Amino acid sequence: MDIEKMLQFAERAVDEIVFTNRGRHMDDLEKAVLRGTLRRKTYKEIAKELECSDSHLREVGSELWKIISEELGDKISKSNLRSELEKLQVSICSSDCVQQIDSVIYSGEPRDNSGVSPKSNCQRHDLSQMPELGAFYDRASELDTLKTWILQEQCRIIALMGISGIGKTQLARQLVEQIQSEFESVIWRSLEHAPPFAQLEADFIQVFCSPQPEDASAEKKKELPLIQYLQKHRCLIILDDIHNLCCPGELAGKYKPGYEPYKSFFRKIRTLPHQSCLILMGWEHPRDCLPLKKHSSGVGTMQLKGLDPLSTEALLRETELENREQWQMLNLYEGNPFWLKSVVFQIQELEIEPTNISSEHSLLLPENVKDNLQEQFDRLSPQEQQVLHLLAQAEEPVNLGQLLQNQTIEASNSINALHSLCDRSLIERKNKRYSVSPAIKQALHLHDSQKKGY
Ligand SMILES: Nc1ncnc2c1ncn2[C@@H]1O[C@H](COP(=O)(O)OP(=O)(O)OP(=O)(O)O)[C@@H](O)[C@H]1O
Ligand SMILES: [Mg+2]
Repeated sequence: MDIEKMLQFAERAVDEIVFTNRGRHMDDLEKAVLRGTLRRKTYKEIAKELECSDSHLREVGSELWKIISEELGDKISKSNLRSELEKLQVSICSSDCVQQIDSVIYSGEPRDNSGVSPKSNCQRHDLSQMPELGAFYDRASELDTLKTWILQEQCRIIALMGISGIGKTQLARQLVEQIQSEFESVIWRSLEHAPPFAQLEADFIQVFCSPQPEDASAEKKKELPLIQYLQKHRCLIILDDIHNLCCPGELAGKYKPGYEPYKSFFRKIRTLPHQSCLILMGWEHPRDCLPLKKHSSGVGTMQLKGLDPLSTEALLRETELENREQWQMLNLYEGNPFWLKSVVFQIQELEIEPTNISSEHSLLLPENVKDNLQEQFDRLSPQEQQVLHLLAQAEEPVNLGQLLQNQTIEASNSINALHSLCDRSLIERKNKRYSVSPAIKQALHLHDSQKKGY
């Protein structure tokens, strides 16, 4: 058993016992005796570290063992303390976690969410759907922001949005690897096949209620509504590909018919008190799962951009592309790692030379990138398609006034379409002007030419 985890568990459990039986918390000497004993140190060794007399420590220890014995009903001494506490820990984890962890470990003092870490070994992670994605290049500032939101600001719901291939899943995977030890449960699910909410809820409850390995013979735990588990335990839930809950052919965020129960779940997560965190990822997030104000408390929204130039350079170095400096065209992919990897793969497969590709209009767009963009275009409403084409045809970024002048549809509908395209990261807004990235322009151009039969 991990000694640090054991020490943390022991200190909390024994403190709770002392509090319950003597109405006070453990003092520093008692903690030192407890920790030293669990590290199999003699009273003499502990006394030497603390620069005090070992006879006094013996008295402190024997009073402590007495209190624990009274509580546990077994005779506890310095020699059997560790094994007895290990048994207690295992029994807590394998009995009804919802009830026992609360009463044995947490009660006695108000729950403080700040810096809460899983206080026992009772961790129920299910990362079976978290994909392996290979090398990861720096996203230090994004990781810092996400960690601040989750660990310091106790955000209850976070939306990590962005165009396909930009690196949402990869970033979330890194995040999970760095912070999973702070949670009792971490569960990752892809909503690729858009399960109805009841199915997802049952799936989660099964994870929370399944017996632990050391508890194989135990009966199934009593089931509670999902939100109650998230209130009682500190859980991190990641729902990837969240756009599958939304209707294609509509402005971003409209729930598919039958998927409204998700709306009520997201509202509960956002508004009810709990210590868990839900991360939503995808191309568009369902409406109303976030408040109108982007940075209200308990909520974080991040729209992921491409890799910075240094990370892009590192990614390209890994591909071993020849004559890298002559491939200026690669700057037009705006640090989208999926686009970059696919284009470089095509260049290498066909041994294309930089001189073969001269003008910006011949931007390479391999079929997998085209298909991937087409899948996102197919989700657009007719108004969005119209606005996107208009912006793609413009040579320069366009301001709102210019856009509305050129529109045949009503101003309010054009603005809604523009808003929705921004949410989907298919257009960019900078200095009140809107533009479309070269790769997206090229995909639209190729699509239109194909339709015309070129
Ligand atoms: N920081 C990074 N460093 C290196 N490679 C990366 C990085 N981020 C993403 N990639 C690579 O780019 C590709 C796309 O990444 P990822 O699957 O995370 O994108 P996504 O935004 O989740 O896309 P989708 O919305 O389609 O699921 C993967 O091959 C991934 O390994
Ligand atoms: Mg993804």
